[in-house]
Parts: sequence; C-alpha cells; structure tokens
Amino acid sequence: MYGITILIILLVKQDIVRSVRLVELRVPTHEREGGSALLGCQYDLEGDTLYAVKWYKDGKEFFKYAPRIQTPMKHFKLPGVHVNESRSSTTVVALENLTRESAGLYACEVSGEAPSFMTARSEKYITVHLIPDTRPKLTGLKDKYFLDDLVVSNCTTAPSTPEAHLKWLINDKPVLKRFLRGPWYRVSADRPDAIETTLQLRFTVTPSDFVDGAMKLTCQSTIAPLYQQETTSTHYIDLPLSLETPSPVSSPSTDHAIKTNWSILTVLLSVLFLRI
Ligand SMILES: *[C@@H]1O[C@H](CO)[C@@H](O)[C@H](O)[C@H]1NC(C)=O
Ligand SMILES: *[C@@H]1O[C@H](CO)[C@@H](O)[C@H](O)[C@H]1NC(C)=O
Ligand SMILES: *[C@@H]1O[C@H](CO)[C@@H](O)[C@H](O)[C@H]1NC(C)=O
Repeated sequence: MYGITILIILLVKQDIVRSVRLVELRVPTHEREGGSALLGCQYDLEGDTLYAVKWYKDGKEFFKYAPRIQTPMKHFKLPGVHVNESRSSTTVVALENLTRESAGLYACEVSGEAPSFMTARSEKYITVHLIPDTRPKLTGLKDKYFLDDLVVSNCTTAPSTPEAHLKWLINDKPVLKRFLRGPWYRVSADRPDAIETTLQLRFTVTPSDFVDGAMKLTCQSTIAPLYQQETTSTHYIDLPLSLETPSPVSSPSTDHAIKTNWSILTVLLSVLFLRI
C-alpha cells in the first residue's frame, strides 16, 4: 500500500513539475584534425527557467553556461578541447584546433532552476581523422609509353587515420583487380597511429588503353566521409609513324586527322602532364 502511494505521488509530481526537454544534439560525427566543430544543443525549457547548460567530454565537464551567475560562461581545459567562447552561447559551443585527443563522447546537459533541477542529457561520439593535406602521389611513371610497354606506378597517400582507400582508373574507368598490387600499409615515421597507403597499377599497354590518342591514369584517395582527392597523369601514345593511320581507338570522323596529328605532335614534345 505504502509503495503504491509513493508511486502515485511521484506520478502526480512528474505531471506538475515543468521539465526540461532536449530537442536536438547536433554534433558532427566525423571531423578532421586541425579543423573546428560547432556543437549544438537545442532544448525546450517547457516553462522552466534555465539553471545551466553544461558540456562534457568523456564524462569531464569542459563548458558551462549558467545565466544567473555573474560571468555566465565558463570553460575548462581538457586535452584536445579548445573552446572559443566568443563563438559559443547557451545553445552552441565552438571547438577549434581539433587534435586526435579531441575524439570522444560529447554530452550536453541542460538543467532547470531550483527547486526541481530537472535535467535532460544527450550524448554523441565525435571521431577525429587525420586527413592528408596533399593529393596522392604517383611514382614510377615514364614520360612515353609504346604499345606492349609495361606500366608500373605506385599511388601513395600521405599519412592518415584511418588508412585511405585507393582506387586506380584508366580513362575514368575503374581498373580490373588483376592489374593491381597491394594495397600496402606503412606506419608513419612520426605518427605511429597514422598510415601511408600504396596501391600499385601494373599493366601492359594495348591500343584500347588510349582514347583519342591519350591514356589518362587517375588515382583516387578516399577517407569517407571527409576526404577525396585524385591525381591524374595523361600520356600520349608513342606510335611509330607507320601506325599513324588507322588510329586504333578513335572511329573515323572529320576531326580524326586533326586529333591524330595532334597526338603525334605531343609525342614529339614528349610532354608528361602531371596535375598535382
Ligand atoms: C587555435 O589555434 C590558433 C593558432 O595557434 C590560435 O590563435 C587560436 O587561439 C586557437 N583557438 C583556440 C580556441 O584555442
Ligand atoms: C574565436 O573566434 C573569433 C572569430 O573567428 C576569432 O577572431 C578569435 O580569435 C577566436 N578566439 C580564440 C581564443 O581563438
Ligand atoms: C611500389 O611500392 C612497393 C611497396 O612499397 C615497393 O616495393 C616498390 O618498389 C614501389 N615501386 C615503385 C615503382 O615505386
């Protein structure tokens, strides 16, 4: 009987007390090292008065906004947590200069005034990636290729966490697996948690590798969902003059001759186009 009475009183009390409600915790799930992040906490006081908004990382408080206090905004130093107060408010906290130590579980806690001090809390995990600041590098490529030449090229990304996903394309088409070696992973010399990824392209040049006299080799590096960069190297077919016509790839058309002549000219110039 006694227990039931308490339960009823509690239920009634719940009804009367206005309670804070968290509407949305908007926190990025993935961010890059060196970047910044805006953490948003939307709440509905439902008639209550705000006592404080507090932010925690891995259970440790790093930010507090209590409007009734003389200096309402306060932040506390934690490894990897650099708050910019001038860009923060009752509903937003701005973090800058993210490091790998910034990764963790972030919680927003909103509480109402006395006497109830009703509290609402929500939390989300932020992952911090090390993103290469350069495009992938291609090595081993020659200026010119003849038919039946072996093309061997390594595509390597600067150290990243997690490892990058590499993909080779020839003339914008994904390369068959049998023309690939690797991927190989190497731990970075200065960052034991960061990895350099290499994928090797290896194939024998055939006429079908040229579109309008050009062979475009592209390596794409991806760290989802934050990073995608590519490097392209274009090579013009180095055909003996006797093979000038008919062209093995382009179909006969009015501009065919112009294109063929142009490709021969570029062969003479032996130009390697490397977009970096
Ligand atoms: C982030 O780093 C820059 C450059 O070192 C510094 O000026 C700025 O105050 C830092 N931001 C925070 C919130 O610590
Ligand atoms: C906070 O952000 C403002 C605006 O971007 C900037 O001018 C200021 O230097 C930052 N403060 C700190 C401590 O980094
Ligand atoms: C490609 O990378 C592999 C593994 O790191 C290495 O053994 C090989 O010598 C490299 N080849 C070229 C052409 O760079």
